[in-house]
Amino acid sequence: MLERTLAILKPDTVAAGDAGKILAMIEAAGFRIAGMKMLSLSEKKAGQFYAVHRERPFYGSLVKFMSEGPVIPMVLERENAIPQLRQVMGATDPAKASDGTIRKLHGTSIERNSIHGSDAPDTARFEIGFFFSEYELV
Ligand code: RTP
Ligand code: MG
Repeated sequence: MLERTLAILKPDTVAAGDAGKILAMIEAAGFRIAGMKMLSLSEKKAGQFYAVHRERPFYGSLVKFMSEGPVIPMVLERENAIPQLRQVMGATDPAKASDGTIRKLHGTSIERNSIHGSDAPDTARFEIGFFFSEYELV
């Protein structure tokens, strides 16, 4: 089933100048880019985006990280896009991610792990709508 997911190239990726390399990996994995933009998240917006984690001990630090510099949110489309992107990303902790994954190659800690990907259809719907209106998707 053709599916859409929301990815974010996180502030560590953009600051390192690695956005292009990661985009190339995503395209090589068969994703079509249906929407893309660059912006800076305020702490308030970053907190809203990751609101499901607000009770977790890492929430405050995660919100600071996600608002420290520009991010590149994008909507990606392919068959089974949600699980397929999670596979290309690798495990949350780069130290535990499989060889060849984005997080293994570019992540530097469990927090500064290069990329976000939606984890289920309902979260993908919420996260796509968080950044994009219908007319911005092609
Ligand atoms: P994401 O939502 O960003 O795609 O990452 P994920 O599903 O693999 O991991 P999740 O549990 O949803 O955590 C969201 C983000 O919070 C940071 N984190 N820090 N210090 C820690 O123990 C810790 N655990 C998670 C990471 O940036 C993670 O991607
Ligand atoms: Mg997650």
